Amino acid sequence: MAKQLNPKTYLFVICTLAALGGMLFGLDQGFINGSLELIDQEFTWSVLKGETFASIMIYGCIVGAVLSGWIARVIGRKKTLIFAALFFLVFTIVGSLTREVFILFSARFCIGLAVGCASLAVPLYLSEIAPTKWRGGFISMYQLMITIGIFLIYLSNKYIGEHYHSWRLMLGIIAIPSFVMLIGSFFLPETPRWLMLKGRKTEAEAILKKTRETEEESSKEFAELEASMGDSKKKESAWNLIRKPYFIRVLVLGIFLQLLQQLSGINCIIYYSGQIFRTAGLTNPGVAVIVVGAFNMIATLVAVFIVDKIGRKPIMYFGLTVMTIALIVIGLIFHTTEAHVGGDYQLPGYLSWTMIVSAIFYIIAFAVSVGPIIWILCAEIFPLAIRDVGMAVTTLVNWTAAAVVVQSSLTVMSKWGGSVLFFAFALFCILGLFLVSGFVPETKGISLEQLEINLKAGRKLRKLGVSKIE
Ligand code: BGC
Repeated sequence: MAKQLNPKTYLFVICTLAALGGMLFGLDQGFINGSLELIDQEFTWSVLKGETFASIMIYGCIVGAVLSGWIARVIGRKKTLIFAALFFLVFTIVGSLTREVFILFSARFCIGLAVGCASLAVPLYLSEIAPTKWRGGFISMYQLMITIGIFLIYLSNKYIGEHYHSWRLMLGIIAIPSFVMLIGSFFLPETPRWLMLKGRKTEAEAILKKTRETEEESSKEFAELEASMGDSKKKESAWNLIRKPYFIRVLVLGIFLQLLQQLSGINCIIYYSGQIFRTAGLTNPGVAVIVVGAFNMIATLVAVFIVDKIGRKPIMYFGLTVMTIALIVIGLIFHTTEAHVGGDYQLPGYLSWTMIVSAIFYIIAFAVSVGPIIWILCAEIFPLAIRDVGMAVTTLVNWTAAAVVVQSSLTVMSKWGGSVLFFAFALFCILGLFLVSGFVPETKGISLEQLEINLKAGRKLRKLGVSKIE
């Protein structure tokens, strides 16, 4: 493949293949929407079992995220992707064929392991293989694939539900992209940065040559990489490294960023927009859910192209501001009317539209900013020798916070009303603006190695992206 393609196309192909892990993330996450009723009909579950089934994948993700940090470190980024793809394929098939409830639950948990693993390994792989100038765009491809996955599964569940009434088919169809990812992963090169970490310099250099546009670009990057390995040669243990103050500083930043991504409420919209739109008076909320999915996808595509041009921070300011306004508007509608999710009250026409339009603005703003940029930053800020550990912890935080939001949103809305929930999400967005302005570095156009040098030199977090140390 490498011989026939120019470096840019080659890079695009391998990044797309690696990013398929994101699509499987989206497909498996969205699968519940539209399939649960059919599964319920077959197994006649109680509500509790249905809820447990819906969330068991997230528990798998939490475990998968932790394990994959270690796996990616030991066997490498590429083999971790192969491993995740294999799990996706095997357990998707097992889950769609089984007649045993226990096996179905176990299969969903194992699919969760694969999703957790992919959510660490894909951004890690993309950040380490992409050249500095396109790194943000390539990592955003991961988020783009998540949104494509969510959108496709909404569509396919709707179609299969209407024509075949089969949840097995809804799940089984996910085996196709899993298979493509599995085969594709075998063709991926290992990342030059992991190879350097393992002392395999010649291979690292060869991969840089294949994936960089000019000889000059690849040798410059190789030299930078080699220089930054100076420290790593001392081969300090991971245990020693994770106690270094510079690591703890970026770790805390990464944890706050992932908390921000989830506590700003995205998964409340992704999981429950159907119920929210029904409250807004829509008789066919399924269509609106697909519209939300489409906006999510299109806006992420925009992010892929602008994130390396405009920079991470200005887009975050824009996104968080629009999200705050949209959330406050939705909160105010709940606050000033009798509307509550699951109730019979229907909003008057103009408020109904205000709510739908606000939700769409919210999703566009998230998809262009907080969605991709948090994953980008968490793949960029950690020093190479413990990047996998940093990403494992922050990915774990992401999934744990996602579980909390998904599990508590409906309860909070029914106990205290939608306004409390949406105002709380808005508050987190406002706190996010302070986090971005006070602590987040602008990482556009700066190499991972320079970021690491700046971090170790004790620069302020906000200043890590300044290319030269004065
Ligand atoms: C988040 C997911 C979310 C998805 C929606 C991702 O970046 O991590 O929790 O469901 O975006 O597009």
